[in-house]
Amino acid sequence: MSEAAATVKAALIPYEELPGPKGIPVLGNATQIRLEAFHQQLEAWAREYGGKFRFRITNRHMLAITDPEAISSVLRRRPQQFLKTPRLVQVAKDMGFHGVFSANGDDWKRQRQLVMPGLDPAHLHAYLPALVTVTDRLRAKWRKAATQGTELDLQAELMRYTVDVTTGLAFGEDLNTMEQGDDVAIQRHLNYILPALFKRVLSPFDLEHWVPSREQKEHVSALKEAVRGFIERTRTLLRDRPELREKPQNLMQSMVATCDAGGGALSDDELSANALTMLLAGEDTTATTLAWMIWLLSQNRGALEAARDEVDRVVGRGAIAMNMDQLSQLDYVDACANESLRLKPVAPLIILQAAEDAEIDGVAVRAGTFVMCVMRPASVDAARFEQPQSFRPERWLHGEADAAHGRMFSAKRVVMPFGAGPRVCPGRYLALAEIKMVMAMLLANFSIDSVTAADGEPRERLTLVMQPEGLRMKLSAR
Ligand code: HEM
Repeated sequence: MSEAAATVKAALIPYEELPGPKGIPVLGNATQIRLEAFHQQLEAWAREYGGKFRFRITNRHMLAITDPEAISSVLRRRPQQFLKTPRLVQVAKDMGFHGVFSANGDDWKRQRQLVMPGLDPAHLHAYLPALVTVTDRLRAKWRKAATQGTELDLQAELMRYTVDVTTGLAFGEDLNTMEQGDDVAIQRHLNYILPALFKRVLSPFDLEHWVPSREQKEHVSALKEAVRGFIERTRTLLRDRPELREKPQNLMQSMVATCDAGGGALSDDELSANALTMLLAGEDTTATTLAWMIWLLSQNRGALEAARDEVDRVVGRGAIAMNMDQLSQLDYVDACANESLRLKPVAPLIILQAAEDAEIDGVAVRAGTFVMCVMRPASVDAARFEQPQSFRPERWLHGEADAAHGRMFSAKRVVMPFGAGPRVCPGRYLALAEIKMVMAMLLANFSIDSVTAADGEPRERLTLVMQPEGLRMKLSAR
């Protein structure tokens, strides 16, 4: 080691010397954590112990960090220095979605290259007609509810929408869960999987791996069966229309064509796992962001009016957006999405593991230490944002955040709802297109009479994504 490197190493704080909540023997801090409020517990500890602290769940030693530069540095040191955790890999294998989301190292790199292209902005143009069809279907359903004066279960409505969009765009299948509701089996199985996955990833002991419940077996095998069906039908279509192999029209066609081309690019199991990954990664995240956004707009009528004015101007009253050009002109709606993700990030924690001894934010950690990137504290920090708890989309319109404490900075470097670095969310363009489509349809066609939760302010419930609890919406036609 050079003298300079030795000096830097000596200046690091050893992990063991960090502050943190006191735990108990064996279980550590496990008994202080309620899974549904895990992110809030970490945010509370950050207020008490500062932007980096340690805690433990059984033998898993955790470093929590909140500084955006430290988080960004960790996220960018992937895939080599920081990995998806062995528990996530195990659960993903058990549940049949061990694909690009959970893979590490070269496996991840190969799969990312195969999955990414189908989700890039260039492909979104081709998907737009399908997006319009599903959005139109949602409008028809909400029109009926408005006429009958029925209250809508906001989260459930939006989840059906995003399942229909993802299966339509990614797999070329029109499931129409929206009109059939929870009777569509796939919706029920998806509703089970994410909370079960989250529980298994964070529980002190993963008993389900050794003794899987009957419920888990049933849901997992039914979902795998559904995905096998998507793959089989795609294979048949590609046999009948071989030209699609060169010019695939959806993500599944592109993945199947690559897989069938051989050369070990993507095995059959990986194909099925990545198809399921898209469903799981694309559904709750987008639907939940929309649910928070509609709630926040309903509470901020000035912003709601400004968004509606923009939609009326760009899309037209009573219409729905028909092309990418219109979506790209919805700057204020885009700012509302950014502001919603700042206050209510649906992925408030990113959990990784150090593959080797590493330096994180001036702390020396050993290989195997878990790193909890706690995403929200910096986004609501008064030193960075003026009136940080207020919903003010305007702060996103000028490319820079408010000047606080005499300095300007880019809000996008602080607020990272889609992660950062080589594993940044590949579905972000699709997600934003869906969000703008739904918001434009809602604002152009309806007046939001009320959005309510049981206790006034909706409770945040973490089930892998951070959902608002029990939001109900009442609309009337404009
Ligand atoms: C508002 C909606 C969404 C949010 C907030 C979101 C957020 C995230 C976050 C935070 C990550 C981890 C990034 C990191 O580790 O740096 C991620 C990864 C991922 N997301 Fe999204 N996501 C959304 C929608 C989607 C959609 C619509 C899809 C696909 C249909 C998708 C597919 C994925 C995949 C495949 C990964 C794993 C990427 C990898 O590890 O290489 N996401 N997302």
